[in-house]
Amino acid sequence: MPRYCNAVVDEHGFVSRHFKLLRLRPLSEMQEPKAGQFYMLQAGATSDPLLKRPFSLFKREDGTLSFLYRIRGKGTQSLARFRQGDSIRVIGPLGNRYPVPQGDFIAVAGGIGIASLLSLLEGYPGRAHLFHGARSAEELVMGEEVKRVAKEVIIATDDGSAGMRGVVTDLLAVRLGMTTEPLLPIYACGPTPMLRELHRVVADKEVRCHVSLEEHMACGVGACLGCVVKTTSGYRRVCKEGPVFDMKELAW
Ligand SMILES: Cc1cc2nc3c(=O)[nH]c(=O)nc-3n(C[C@H](O)[C@H](O)[C@H](O)COP(=O)(O)OP(=O)(O)OC[C@H]3O[C@@H](n4cnc5c(N)ncnc54)[C@H](O)[C@@H]3O)c2cc1C
Ligand code: FES
Repeated sequence: MPRYCNAVVDEHGFVSRHFKLLRLRPLSEMQEPKAGQFYMLQAGATSDPLLKRPFSLFKREDGTLSFLYRIRGKGTQSLARFRQGDSIRVIGPLGNRYPVPQGDFIAVAGGIGIASLLSLLEGYPGRAHLFHGARSAEELVMGEEVKRVAKEVIIATDDGSAGMRGVVTDLLAVRLGMTTEPLLPIYACGPTPMLRELHRVVADKEVRCHVSLEEHMACGVGACLGCVVKTTSGYRRVCKEGPVFDMKELAW
């Protein structure tokens, strides 16, 4: 089944000051996406910016694909200008998926990392202990949606405006330290500093940890080698062999 298609903007609006939710309706049949996969989206109505940008599948419902994104730079500012009814080119679903969790699991989301993890939580409702970190309460977007599907939600913000003041990996470290039973598998997506800290927290523990990386990408389909990361078995392309990797395979 083709991975390239045109889609129409079904709905597009702000969910918070810097975050928008984009719902697209593909105009032709596409492969069914799996939690953890992503799409390359045309970033502007003209050829500038030329390169598509990668976004995780946030939600799949009623034949539509939804993406939750943070407005950062040229590409996302331009993407934010698409309006209902506009046509947009899409490639996907791309990359690998989160391994299927057996039983309960821990999810660690940093900021917009929740966009990648929500479809996993929705696929296994009531099974995720979610540790959700953000800069402030304002950046904890889609909180109600998250609460509906998670078993529990533990929050930390940099400024203390919601949950504990501090970083979410500190809360996770306390939880893992208190647990006497075998540790639940961890699924994480967030900024590199958070993932590095997570790596430190689990380094001496017997736990499977699957992390989704958000490298800069150019082609998104394995051709340019612009997204490689170092692993214990050599360089790997985040767009093709990832974006989900076993934490222990990554060379931190
Ligand atoms: C597999 C994958 C899934 C992603 N899913 C989402 C998602 O669901 N929602 C979302 O908001 N974003 C997601 N991202 C990140 C998103 O692709 C970038 O934010 C976007 O491409 C930035 O484009 P830009 O032109 O607006 O910013 P640029 O002008 O390219 O950059 C603006 C700033 O953002 C930083 N930046 C750019 N790209 C990244 C990146 N990949 N990771 C970290 N910092 C970056 C730059 O260093 C710079 O400081 C994902 C990335 C990958 C690889
Ligand atoms: S973005 Fe081109 S190989 Fe990954």
